[in-house]
Amino acid sequence: MSQSRENWGSRIGLILAMAGNAVGLGNFLRFPRQAALNGGGAFMIPYFVALLLLGIPLMWVEWAIGRFGGAHGHGTTPGMFARMWRHPLAKYLGALGIAIPLSFVMYYTYVEGWTLAYACFSAIKHYWGVDTFAEMSRFLAEFQGKADLSQGAQYFSGIGVALLFYCVTLGLNLFVLSHGVAKGIERLAKIALPALFLFALVLVIRVITLGTPDPSHPENSVAAGFAYIWNPDFSMLKNPTVWLAAAGQIFFTLSIGTGSIQTYASYVKRNDDIALTGLSTSATNEFAEVILGGSIAIPVAVAFFGLAETQQIAREGSFDLGFQAMPIIFQKMGALGPLYGTLWFALLFFAGITSSVALAQPVMAFMQDEFRWSRKKAMFFTGSLMAIGGLACVFFLKHGFLDEMDFWAGTFGLVIFALIEVLIFAWAFGIDNGWKEITRGADIKVPRAFKFIIKYVTPVYLLLMLIAWTWQDAVPILLFAKQPAQDAPYPPEDIPYVLAARLLMLGTFVLFAVLVGVIWRRRHRQEGLV
Ligand code: PHE
Ligand code: NA
Repeated sequence: MSQSRENWGSRIGLILAMAGNAVGLGNFLRFPRQAALNGGGAFMIPYFVALLLLGIPLMWVEWAIGRFGGAHGHGTTPGMFARMWRHPLAKYLGALGIAIPLSFVMYYTYVEGWTLAYACFSAIKHYWGVDTFAEMSRFLAEFQGKADLSQGAQYFSGIGVALLFYCVTLGLNLFVLSHGVAKGIERLAKIALPALFLFALVLVIRVITLGTPDPSHPENSVAAGFAYIWNPDFSMLKNPTVWLAAAGQIFFTLSIGTGSIQTYASYVKRNDDIALTGLSTSATNEFAEVILGGSIAIPVAVAFFGLAETQQIAREGSFDLGFQAMPIIFQKMGALGPLYGTLWFALLFFAGITSSVALAQPVMAFMQDEFRWSRKKAMFFTGSLMAIGGLACVFFLKHGFLDEMDFWAGTFGLVIFALIEVLIFAWAFGIDNGWKEITRGADIKVPRAFKFIIKYVTPVYLLLMLIAWTWQDAVPILLFAKQPAQDAPYPPEDIPYVLAARLLMLGTFVLFAVLVGVIWRRRHRQEGLV
């Protein structure tokens, strides 16, 4: 069974692919916003606590589950969970590890398409002259099809351009997926990851040397931006929302709780190290996030607009810092402005595509491993599913479709799934078996404290997060009393679209749960015959 499965081509290829999985839009767009909204330095303490007690332990758990599953011919969590917990429910819970990344990738690919579009816009100076917040916000809203065009369009007459870039992005993703793990994903990572680091480095150096761009406002400086992120504010530790936001960011950024790490790890050979490799890829992600991601958007925005306005920009919307503040700043950077703009959005695109293929791979692997589909056939199936959700995001963005998907599939769902998986791993499979899986072939000595952390601390931490989030966000959002990431309730006209988004996510889960049922029954019957 397992001889037909693929493997990574080399260890460095594996590290780059896994780092590519983790390093994504979250590092450069989501992290700066979360830090700005949650008190800068105040955010970093709960952030590192969550990294140590949730991020690192769950990362090892997921690598271990994945490699274990791969050795038994399973690249996705239904087969993995069923092997670790001999209960009929296990495989259906595992269907979450396909439905969550699929729902995630539906909207993620659309945002990735914006980065490609803005990279082109920067290169041809398309938005040059659009240099106030009001105008840039209009530009983005028209591009996204959010603007009210009844008074006439100024920049885009419809959704056509965004749609075009979405289709190109989806096509590129499918092209990579159609070449498989070693020749597609690994090869992409070998180009995209070094390029991304190079672009980020160039931008960081440019930011650091900016100083005080406007001498009449000496308080608006790059140094003030760094001070903001790095000065810890211990009084914020009393605030549970900051803890939740920090833990949510750790999940999102490390790609934990989706099923995508397990799928990538299933292509690791049975006795190859996962402890050190997993740690290295997490460290790479953290470097890209706090050092590179933390040194671009926030310091530069503080330098040009000041701290108060930067926080205001962050509050306005998820993408305002990256897609509104940054384009205004590039126009103030002189002759090299278009170059910096192109580098910024190309960096985002590379970060995005190495993550979106990771989110799509579980569906690919499930159809190939369990249904024996060819890669081509799996690619068409995956692409069609991605397109359904992606196109819905393109056309219904203004009705909150994307935000709704982001909350359930990109935030809340991850914690639920992680709790299920850590319980299966440490309690059903058993922490002793689990510990053996983590440490087999290990090139480092994993501190034994993590055995205790994985068994007790991580599950309790997750449970507390889940309770707090259910009460604070999930229930109000479910009842339409609140929109994700906003304090205002849903406008009534959005409710049908929000319901459609929920139905779509539920539909993906039901689809894969049914497929799991079908294939298990079929296998059962075949085993009965022989
Ligand atoms: N970690 C990615 C980011 O930071 C997002 C992602 C989550 C990718 C889950 C794959 C799986 O953007
Ligand atoms: Na990340």
